[in-house]
Amino acid sequence: MARKTVRIAMNGVTGRMGYRQHLVRSLLAIRDEGGLDLGDGDVLWPEPVLVGRREHALKTLADRHGLEHVSTDLDAVLADPSVDVYFDAQVTLAREDAITRAIAAGKHIYTEKPTATSARGALELARLARDRGVKHGVVQDKLFLPGLLKLKRLIDGGFFGRILSVRGEFGYWVFEGDWQPAQRPSWNYRAQDGGGVVLDMFPHWEYILHELFGRVETVQAHVTTHIPRRWDEKGKAYEATADDAAYGIFGLEGGVVAQINSSWAVRVNRDELVEFQVDGTEGSAVAGLRECRVQHRSATPKPVWNPDQPATESFRDQWQPVPDNGEFANGFRAQWELFLRHVALDEPYHWDLLAGARGVQLAELGLRAAAEGRRLDVPELAL
Ligand SMILES: NC(=O)c1ccc[n+]([C@@H]2O[C@H](COP(=O)([O-])OP(=O)(O)OC[C@H]3O[C@@H](n4cnc5c(N)ncnc54)[C@H](O)[C@@H]3O)[C@@H](O)[C@H]2O)c1
Repeated sequence: MARKTVRIAMNGVTGRMGYRQHLVRSLLAIRDEGGLDLGDGDVLWPEPVLVGRREHALKTLADRHGLEHVSTDLDAVLADPSVDVYFDAQVTLAREDAITRAIAAGKHIYTEKPTATSARGALELARLARDRGVKHGVVQDKLFLPGLLKLKRLIDGGFFGRILSVRGEFGYWVFEGDWQPAQRPSWNYRAQDGGGVVLDMFPHWEYILHELFGRVETVQAHVTTHIPRRWDEKGKAYEATADDAAYGIFGLEGGVVAQINSSWAVRVNRDELVEFQVDGTEGSAVAGLRECRVQHRSATPKPVWNPDQPATESFRDQWQPVPDNGEFANGFRAQWELFLRHVALDEPYHWDLLAGARGVQLAELGLRAAAEGRRLDVPELAL
């Protein structure tokens, strides 16, 4: 049995995503189980190098988890030939520059989304990575959620017949920060700092729609800032210059129409924080983060519109849960494992910087469609 170490420079690891999902729930969880089993008795051992701006914060994390390597000097880490992978979970605005430097240094790239703030920048990253011959991956965690895996299973099994439409509802109330602290970082609400619900969420909608239902061919959107004033982490009032709600309509390859609301100014009256209803000729499903419920054509009720009478049946009770039929790992970890296998064993991996660029492109076109009040075509991206 051979144990092979993969050294991963993790930048932005003090942040919400970098710490909880990527460090603790993914790489440290893999280490807790003895490393990643590569088959034939070989094991891959991820060795994080924590990179950031504040040495004290990095050292605190390293001590907490028994890690040895921290650095505030990204260039020095990138110049270290023993570092194999550069991972980025920084604030969005800092990403493009750091990844460009990491590619130039010949590191494999794994990164949070959005990969850049413009489609041109995102595509350029994909080109640079191709030309430098490094491997690259972009977080598309929602594809690995139990609810969406069950939905994919239904699609693959032909449950829906012809799929007609997808309705997505995402969001929750993000506190303004005055009366109760906000539960998301304040930069998300400042356009000049890379914030905005469109740039944050349209990349997710792009890969979900693309992988499950077909490529996004057109976009139209109404985008707004419902809450114009918020309070930051220090309790200081600021102008919320970024959009906090987007009402989008996406035309998909093959004629499916998808309509997705994304909002940080909505109160939840749903079973989960995101839900997608899919209607097809043979049946319908509602998938959330974990659960998925179906209603087959044969069990579809026949409601009759009569506002003079109270509802005669409980529509929510007429759906049937889709069983797990298996165990689901944390989605971030599942994708990390596939990426590490891609690096170590050259296994195929298609959630790459070009896929990431498609997400940024959809965000950019969504914002433009809203500003111009038009439906826009989404051209197919190529390197
Ligand atoms: N995949 C997902 O579901 C998902 C969810 C939320 C956020 N994200 C993405 O992850 C990234 C990080 O988001 P987050 O919510 O963890 O943010 P966060 O504010 O909690 O963390 C940001 C990290 O970047 C660092 N940083 C680097 N340069 C900075 C600068 N100039 N100003 C402030 N911080 C700086 C911070 O120290 C921190 O470690 C974003 O690009 C975001 O779009 C992805």
